[in-house]
Amino acid sequence: MGLQVLVLAAGKGTRMKSKYPKVIHEVCGMPMLGHVLRAAEEVITGRPWVVVGFGADQVQQTIGDGPEYILQEQQLGTGHAVLITKERLEASKEENLLVLYGDTPLITGHTLREMVRVHRESTAAATVLTAMIDEPYGYGRILRDADGQVESIVEEKDATPEQRGIREINTGIYCFSINALLNALPRLEPQNAQGEYYLTDVITLLRQDGEMLSTLTLNNSEEVLGPNDRVVLAMVEGIMRRRILEGWMREGVTIVDPSSTYVDARAVIGSDTCLLPGVVIEGTTRIGDDCRIGPSSHLTNAQVGHGTHIFRSVLEDSKVGNMVNVGPYAYLRPGTMVEDHAKIGDFVEIKNSKVGFGSKVPHLSYIGDCTIGKETNIGAGTITCNYDGKHKHPTIIGDAVFVGSNSNLVAPVTIGDGATIGAGSTITKNIPSGALAVERSTQVIKEGWVPPSRR
Ligand code: UD1
Ligand code: MG
Repeated sequence: MGLQVLVLAAGKGTRMKSKYPKVIHEVCGMPMLGHVLRAAEEVITGRPWVVVGFGADQVQQTIGDGPEYILQEQQLGTGHAVLITKERLEASKEENLLVLYGDTPLITGHTLREMVRVHRESTAAATVLTAMIDEPYGYGRILRDADGQVESIVEEKDATPEQRGIREINTGIYCFSINALLNALPRLEPQNAQGEYYLTDVITLLRQDGEMLSTLTLNNSEEVLGPNDRVVLAMVEGIMRRRILEGWMREGVTIVDPSSTYVDARAVIGSDTCLLPGVVIEGTTRIGDDCRIGPSSHLTNAQVGHGTHIFRSVLEDSKVGNMVNVGPYAYLRPGTMVEDHAKIGDFVEIKNSKVGFGSKVPHLSYIGDCTIGKETNIGAGTITCNYDGKHKHPTIIGDAVFVGSNSNLVAPVTIGDGATIGAGSTITKNIPSGALAVERSTQVIKEGWVPPSRR
């Protein structure tokens, strides 16, 4: 394809008032830089380059080793950030360089493809992505000559009052011919109001060299919104959220009330699944087809099969199979695995446990560090006593077991297949297969007994 991507992400983002670098702040559960890299994946197959500076380690840890990182120790301007890649550019076999910013999470793969297409078709030395906006304050303005050709870009701080009236702004996204860029880069000078090396000056230099420049203009500048503070961050979140929901609706997911539904950028939802009001789906959650989620449920990194109902419940790092019923008011904590056709009912907390095929934990239970076999019934109020104050211990329950209501299973303990536990028992010893275990004192009856108050 002949394209390399370079993402500038060395800035601190002072107005975020944060100890974390700006580009790792999240939008719909994914770092801003992650969104930009995801859009870039639509135009390149190789590794993008990312210029990091402030909080470089944090950025690398958060984003991982998909991209190749280039350290800009001092942030001397956008031109300098590209200049430090000079040797890589010289060694590169690619023809063009697409420059992006790490803090514009709304940029789409579609726009990037358009940029690359316009750049190639026009055979320009550089193509600039511009936008028409009503409040251009703070942005670089696009200066065009009498023929409408781009002449240069002037920064707000360097602009004349007349230039400040121009509504066409520089989005900061460019596609350069690498040869032309290499020719202009060494000539950048920090002679401007901010004393920085401006990448925008490359455009001016190329024009002076008589090179051809082209532009692509966005009518909707939403895509290039780069949050500088948390107010704009929330605005960007709102736009991204609507986009994600509309995307899933177009894929066949019913979302009854988009205004009260939240789905993270990395979540996946199957067709004919219905999200009812008040649903929050976070992280890498995957939901199959024909599920009914909500009203009011919160799923984080959960995996849900097909045809499952989750009603008013919380799932974290849990796996739930096909045709399972969960809730209302169930809490599935990390390490929970619920197999097909099982039922987890109201006020049930499960942690690091497996509930086998067709088994039921219908009401008021705590199940921790436990393995439950197939077709087993856990009576209301059953508790696995998995913690002795110092260590956690396992409980193993076989297939087709009947655990009577209000039982305490003191771990470590094993209950054989087909065993029955009488209601109210505190089980401290293993139960063999097929046996009945009852642990409760004998009931006393005193006939015709008169209470002292009535004597
Ligand atoms: C830049 C453009 C301006 C454009 C605007 C769009 C220049 C000189 N100006 O201005 O025309 O309208 O973007 O948002 O390019 N960065 C580095 N290293 C540096 C400096 C910046 O990596 O040394 C990164 C920042 O982290 C950020 C991006 O480059 O992601 C843009 O830098 P910023 O300082 O925000 O540029 P603007 O002043 O907004
Ligand atoms: Mg900026």
